[in-house]
Amino acid sequence: MEWNRLIYGTYRLPESYKDFKEIISICERKGIRWIDSAHMYNHQESERWIGRVKKEEGPRFKLKVATKCGKSYINGEPKIDLSEKTVFSQLNNSLKNLGVKKIDLLFLHDYDKNLNEVDLIKLIKSIRSTGRVKAIGLSNFPFDITKRMIEKKLVSVLQLKYGKSINYALYKSVCQKHGAALWLYRPFNKGKSIKKRGQAGAILKRILSENKDSKIIFGATKTSQIESFDY
Ligand SMILES: NC(=O)c1ccc[n+]([C@@H]2O[C@H](COP(=O)([O-])OP(=O)(O)OC[C@H]3O[C@@H](n4cnc5c(N)ncnc54)[C@H](OP(=O)(O)O)[C@@H]3O)[C@@H](O)[C@H]2O)c1
Repeated sequence: MEWNRLIYGTYRLPESYKDFKEIISICERKGIRWIDSAHMYNHQESERWIGRVKKEEGPRFKLKVATKCGKSYINGEPKIDLSEKTVFSQLNNSLKNLGVKKIDLLFLHDYDKNLNEVDLIKLIKSIRSTGRVKAIGLSNFPFDITKRMIEKKLVSVLQLKYGKSINYALYKSVCQKHGAALWLYRPFNKGKSIKKRGQAGAILKRILSENKDSKIIFGATKTSQIESFDY
């Protein structure tokens, strides 16, 4: 397994913090380098658990952490809001939750139709100017806008859902041309693909070999699930 191309995603958490910490330690041992989170995941608990492991592990904690802003649950429903007020309030929470002065990588979680391109550029520049973020990425943005943001060197990583509905070739070509990275998420379709097609490790290997220039963000809620990737 090419563990260095896998990223552990924290959209769903294991039942206990103890299991989470064990999963993180397995990830590190296997050679995973990144964890993916978001302000909205488990109402900030995912970020808090990452921050707790980081604090408990001290300098032994080597993983880089990506998180996302601009999406929240309002009355149980996900709502996209890339207004400066929301983004900066969430960014401050994420810094506190993760216990860091700078976030390794901050994604704008989703495309906000209410934000025009001029304001999107302004937002990205003002996030940068805080000095609190090492890199900025876009998640689930339409191709044309993504392309222009990459060409202007405003963002360096993209997150897209793995599956048939997206024309990766377009995104891949612009990423390759400008040295941006592509992360594909939800390889098991929330576990449904494993029930249908079998082994998780085989699914990951296939997706990795079909998408040589991308990383894959997977979810796992049990230590045994990660151990089973090597078969
Ligand atoms: N950018 C975005 O908008 C966005 C959206 C969604 C997700 N993501 C990222 O992508 C990550 C992955 O997505 P995901 O967790 O929704 O979906 P996923 O990776 O497709 O599926 C994860 C689920 O698959 C099951 N599973 C994993 N390994 C298994 C194994 N060896 N045997 C049996 N079942 C296994 C587990 O289900 P059970 O827990 O039921 O056992 C696990 O929770 C997220 O954590 C998040 O970081 C990003």
